Amino acid sequence: MGSLHYSFLVFLAILVSSANAQNGLHLPVRKDPKTLQHYTTFQMGSNRADINTVIDLGAEHLWFACDDYTSNSYSPIPCWSSKCELAKGSGCIVECHRSDPRPGCTNNTCGSSNFNPFEEFLSGEGYYEDTLYTKDNVQVPQFIFSCASNDFLQGLASGTVGMLGLARTQISLHKQVTGKLNLADKFSLCLPSSGLGKLSIGDVSSSSKSDISSFLKSTALIINPNSTSPVHGEGDAAVEYFIDVKSIRVNGETLSVKDSYFSFDKNGNGGTKISTIQNYTALHPTIYKPFTRAFVKAASDMKIKSVAAVAPFRACFSSSSISKTSAGPAVPAIDLVLPGNTDAYWRINGANSMVEIDQKTTCLGFVEGEQRPKPATAWPTTSIVIGSHQLEENLLVFDLVSSQLHFTSSLLAHGKSCSRV
Ligand SMILES: *[C@@H]1O[C@H](CO)[C@@H](O)[C@H](O)[C@H]1NC(C)=O
Ligand SMILES: *[C@@H]1O[C@H](CO)[C@@H](O)[C@H](O)[C@H]1NC(C)=O
Ligand SMILES: *[C@@H]1O[C@H](CO)[C@@H](O)[C@H](O)[C@H]1NC(C)=O
Repeated sequence: MGSLHYSFLVFLAILVSSANAQNGLHLPVRKDPKTLQHYTTFQMGSNRADINTVIDLGAEHLWFACDDYTSNSYSPIPCWSSKCELAKGSGCIVECHRSDPRPGCTNNTCGSSNFNPFEEFLSGEGYYEDTLYTKDNVQVPQFIFSCASNDFLQGLASGTVGMLGLARTQISLHKQVTGKLNLADKFSLCLPSSGLGKLSIGDVSSSSKSDISSFLKSTALIINPNSTSPVHGEGDAAVEYFIDVKSIRVNGETLSVKDSYFSFDKNGNGGTKISTIQNYTALHPTIYKPFTRAFVKAASDMKIKSVAAVAPFRACFSSSSISKTSAGPAVPAIDLVLPGNTDAYWRINGANSMVEIDQKTTCLGFVEGEQRPKPATAWPTTSIVIGSHQLEENLLVFDLVSSQLHFTSSLLAHGKSCSRV
């Protein structure tokens, strides 16, 4: 009787976890109001410790501080193993002088390069694997991650202990999850401006279901042939997500900017990428100047009053001169024009273009990007880095099977939000 009861429970547990797995893996997304970073929470290891990590579309793998991490289900990834090769491990940790092997310290462990993008710190550590869990009981066994020490967390939102990589690599979150759960390599991301957003891996249909799917537009995800990562092999392509923005329109008028800034040069400078690490969209100075000028002019035509700028922004306005809509302040529309028919553009409404500094002042929430390519040893400079303020309350679906990005523009314009997708 006892064993029958037990096997029934096991049977139920298997049913539950496979049913959940078919629905993909869904994680909550929150915003830290101080750093403006977006982070998610999952559980890891035999103690199912809660791990909060900052979401980074451009990062290659998951790393978190393991100083306080204990688990009896983890194992190190051995040097020169096939998993180490999959992870593109860099070197080998030969000797760790501790009597108690534990994550972050074991002999003969496949080496990783962890990057803290806020401080531009790099650190050589090791790769490990353990079971990743979600609150709704989806389990991903042998999930490859890397450890860091607590003093590597400078610049990260308080309460977070690492970075969650969603880049185009073999060990990014979506690649490992969809591989293990036998799902198509797709994920959707809806960053909240406040409250709860959502990161869904594998099954993105719940997000593209019903009325929201009618707002989704699509564009190709393109590859920058030159890596934009701080550590990469010679000849590696970029693992970040680029789209082919052709031009920018402000209030329907196309900015006159040389086309060359929108495409890649022979070293991978230029182009447009999507970043969850950059607070505000950064535009190359050659684009930023005519962009702000055109916006100020169009705003003035709408009787919106300019006021002194508040850094890091260059164009600010009197809040009382701007009327409100469901999609934020009523300001000139900004369109990122994409290849294809006349309908192919990403509309940026007031909720995503403007930043309220205080009750009196509202600024155009775009910043000036880097002037010129970094020295040849560093990574290339991207002309347009679409930042998280411009992504909030937009549903993005990254379909890596068909290399397409599906996007909605502001859900607020349709009376929806990331908390309800
Ligand atoms: C983002 O904004 C926050 C708050 O203003 C600031 O502390 C942080 O340094 C900014 N981060 C980046 C990467 O610019
Ligand atoms: C690692 O290797 C060194 C030297 O071979 C040895 O002294 C040490 O005990 C080993 N440590 C662990 C945790 O296995
Ligand atoms: C960029 O990629 C091209 C084509 O793969 C290559 O010829 C060039 O050397 C690369 N540039 C750098 C700086 O790596």
